[in-house]
Amino acid sequence: MCGIVGYIGDRNSVPLLVEGLKRLEYRGYDSAGVTVLEDGHLETRKTAGKITALEKLLGNGEAPHGSVGIAHTRWATHGPPNTQNAHPHTDCTGEIAVAHNGIIENAGVLRTKLESLGHRFASETDTEVVAHLIEEAWDGKLEDAVRAALRQVEGAFGLAIMSSRDPGTLVAARKGSPLLIGIGRDGEYYIASDVAAVLAQTRQVVYLDDGEMAVLTRDGYETFKLDGRSVDKEVREIEWDLEAIEKGGFEHFMLKEIVEQPETLRNTMRGRLLDEEGTAKLGGVTISPAELKSIQRIIITGCGTSWHAGLLGGYMLEELARLPAEVEYASEFRYRNPVVDENTLVIAISQSGETADTLAAMREARRRGARVMGIVNVVGSTIARESDFGIYLHAGPEIGVASTKAFTSQVVALALFTLLLGRLRNLSVLQGREIVAALRRLPEQVEQVLGLNDSIREIARTYKSAPNFLYLGRGYNFPTALEGALKLKEISYIHAEGLPAAEMKHGPIALIDENMPVVVIAPNDNVYSKITSNVQEVKARGGRIIAVVTEGNLELDGMVDHLIPIPATIDPLTPVLATVPLQLLAYHVAVMRGCNVDMPRNLAKSVTVE
Ligand code: G6P
Repeated sequence: MCGIVGYIGDRNSVPLLVEGLKRLEYRGYDSAGVTVLEDGHLETRKTAGKITALEKLLGNGEAPHGSVGIAHTRWATHGPPNTQNAHPHTDCTGEIAVAHNGIIENAGVLRTKLESLGHRFASETDTEVVAHLIEEAWDGKLEDAVRAALRQVEGAFGLAIMSSRDPGTLVAARKGSPLLIGIGRDGEYYIASDVAAVLAQTRQVVYLDDGEMAVLTRDGYETFKLDGRSVDKEVREIEWDLEAIEKGGFEHFMLKEIVEQPETLRNTMRGRLLDEEGTAKLGGVTISPAELKSIQRIIITGCGTSWHAGLLGGYMLEELARLPAEVEYASEFRYRNPVVDENTLVIAISQSGETADTLAAMREARRRGARVMGIVNVVGSTIARESDFGIYLHAGPEIGVASTKAFTSQVVALALFTLLLGRLRNLSVLQGREIVAALRRLPEQVEQVLGLNDSIREIARTYKSAPNFLYLGRGYNFPTALEGALKLKEISYIHAEGLPAAEMKHGPIALIDENMPVVVIAPNDNVYSKITSNVQEVKARGGRIIAVVTEGNLELDGMVDHLIPIPATIDPLTPVLATVPLQLLAYHVAVMRGCNVDMPRNLAKSVTVE
């Protein structure tokens, strides 16, 4: 997501900071900025757009000069990606500057409080509250004011902070967002959110852990707990090359993004679950509870993987919020003559927020008077801007063309919305709490599923040469079957079909012989007993079966060729856990076939044409 670089030393910081930002470009961003201490005061230059735009701004004879500075590339979360919202952010006096990664969950409350104390805000970001909190807490020393400020902050942060009031100091603080210190030449120190930013200057780094901060001067650095207790940290020598680091040490972005899912799911849910009330709090759903209650029908639309998430959302909304929900490919919806009115809610789902068909479908729905809610990953994208209200995924940039982490976050976002609507309608607090508890367990359970990677790689080895695959599922896991098949065809070019398991007997069963691998998604849900009979049908015809089952269920052992056990959860969330092994299976098959996993032939990450 966003990137942070900080420098203190004896050279001009600007070129070093810009160089560091460039090394973080691969992470995706939408605006960039630097703040430098020049002749005793802070100078900030920032702009929407790419680092080249920032360089242009700096190149126009306007480059500040100074040997202490911080810089940032922003990937918007709170407020659109414009120049005002770009980091660094300053306090009212312009003497304290902050670059931040993460999300301050109680930013709204803090902002109101600070405004009532007379603070004036220049941006819509959550970050800016930190600068004003430090201003408010100022007592002569930057590190003390930061400590006092952070005591009030809830949420996740990686922070680089400087002040002209304490000119020889940089402060770094971390909770939930990665941050490290780079040890440069004599008297030079760096802050970075990612080692790639400092690698050209140093290979010696100190990784901060959650709840830690560091104070950097030209004489050295000290590390502390946020409460002020001093901690000793090990200096590490980085051995990776730059390319490996960009992918977090993974061979491909897709694998990195699969493995990130425990974290991205946490980010999608952060600050949004209300355990006691058994519901969700969604800041972007800005319509009133009464208006939400007036919704009588839901249409969900999207393309590709987003449409699969939509199918799951449709099932959830119908079962748990008791609302009629239809799910339609955006490319089909836009050319129908759909019946919608002001009591219809159209949900447009899109990772990129730029998919042409989805955008056209939502525009058509709006023209006819429906309200449109966007479920989007890229903040400030067209679909996000044109929706009446929405939910951001906060999954971070997805670079692999085949969508992975965005899908699981979309499903969770839909679960959150279902919870919210359901609790306004018919779900009891106890049912709500059960869903909240299951959501909370999900990231750890995904982590457990990722532990199956080695055994899934072996399954991939067995079937990597198969020309066809079938994926079968029922109920909530019919969309899982579609998604599993789509992943395989996208990146391995193997023909694969996802089917509702019972439909097999109406045709596709003719395809089954000993050369046909069949992936069956059969967790212990309310259709489990039904799907076991479909497994028998495949077995009887010699098909090779890979079954995703709930751990501890050995009933299918012996009947199927491979078991992939996933942890137990509530039915609507089984697709999240079941999809992860299917992503890994597709990934390993594609790698073994020598395919370009991150950029498969003929596909684009964002399809902005019809
Ligand atoms: C393209 C991508 C898919 C994606 C689909 C929808 O086809 O290759 O991975 O699912 O577009 O994209 P969106 O950004 O709207 O989710």
